[in-house]
Amino acid sequence: MLVKLTKDRLRKGMFIESVACPSEEFARRRFVLSSDRDLAAIVRSSASEVLINIALGLDPNGRPPETPIARSKGKAKSVEVGEAAEVRKIRDTLDQAKLALKTRLTDMVAGGPLDMDDLSAVADSNARTWRESAGIALEVTRLKSKDETTYVHSLAVSGMMTLLGRALGIDEETVAMLGVAGILHDIGKLLIPSEILNKPGTLTSGERAVIRNHPQAGYQLLKAYPGIPPLALDICRLHHEALDGSGYPLGLKRDQIDMPVRLSTVCDVFEALTSVRPYKRPWSSTEALHWMFARPQLFDRRLVIRLGSVLVDDPIV
Ligand SMILES: [Fe+2]
Repeated sequence: MLVKLTKDRLRKGMFIESVACPSEEFARRRFVLSSDRDLAAIVRSSASEVLINIALGLDPNGRPPETPIARSKGKAKSVEVGEAAEVRKIRDTLDQAKLALKTRLTDMVAGGPLDMDDLSAVADSNARTWRESAGIALEVTRLKSKDETTYVHSLAVSGMMTLLGRALGIDEETVAMLGVAGILHDIGKLLIPSEILNKPGTLTSGERAVIRNHPQAGYQLLKAYPGIPPLALDICRLHHEALDGSGYPLGLKRDQIDMPVRLSTVCDVFEALTSVRPYKRPWSSTEALHWMFARPQLFDRRLVIRLGSVLVDDPIV
């Protein structure tokens, strides 16, 4: 739902993802273009192109978004320009959740104590956001700056895990635990030096090994806390396993991978594919779901189909 536009085609009501300036002269990003002042500032800047999100604002022809890329089933809600205030509200809520998660996770990585009730409250509040506004939350979390990627990704995965868990009829207590597991699943990435984690270009085999070790490193870190539920430990350690045994770190196969772990993998990969990254074209939700559906050797198809039914309008099968 992202479209590149020359700046002369910009108009108020569009949702700006980013302005491609060679310098930082227009550093603001991710906002509804609603003032003449901002419009003039972008036009004045040296940027030639602007990235707009047509799921959250007017398209290049001035049309409001007709259908959201995603919605919570039973809570269909069109994302229209008139709902810009709701988009702002969700963005602010998710920004706060990101900061809250960053504080908790960096404390844990530094060996600080764990307050499980507090962590559950962060996960519950995030789950509520996704339950009420999945379509907007999905769009808002697609774009991440490199220093916040892990936190925003974890919130998005956590939110989707709770949606999918609920859609599968899993009991509320377990769904809440899935939410906690989601916000903790990539904590091992915080132990990776940022020059490796954020390295542009090809990684050496040593660097790849460091990155592939993040599930095990996260598991070791979490295991030191007696209050972490076993489900969260499993999901942290095993979310990169694949049904055919080609995943890591243990190379487990089908029956050795429990359903909640499979569920986390499906949400994790879907979130990664649909994220906007500098090195790849962003995939739509439907493209990502079809890609995963075509790989039953890796992903549990039943869960891919169910995630599709929760997040997109058109069934994938
Ligand atoms: Fe991961």
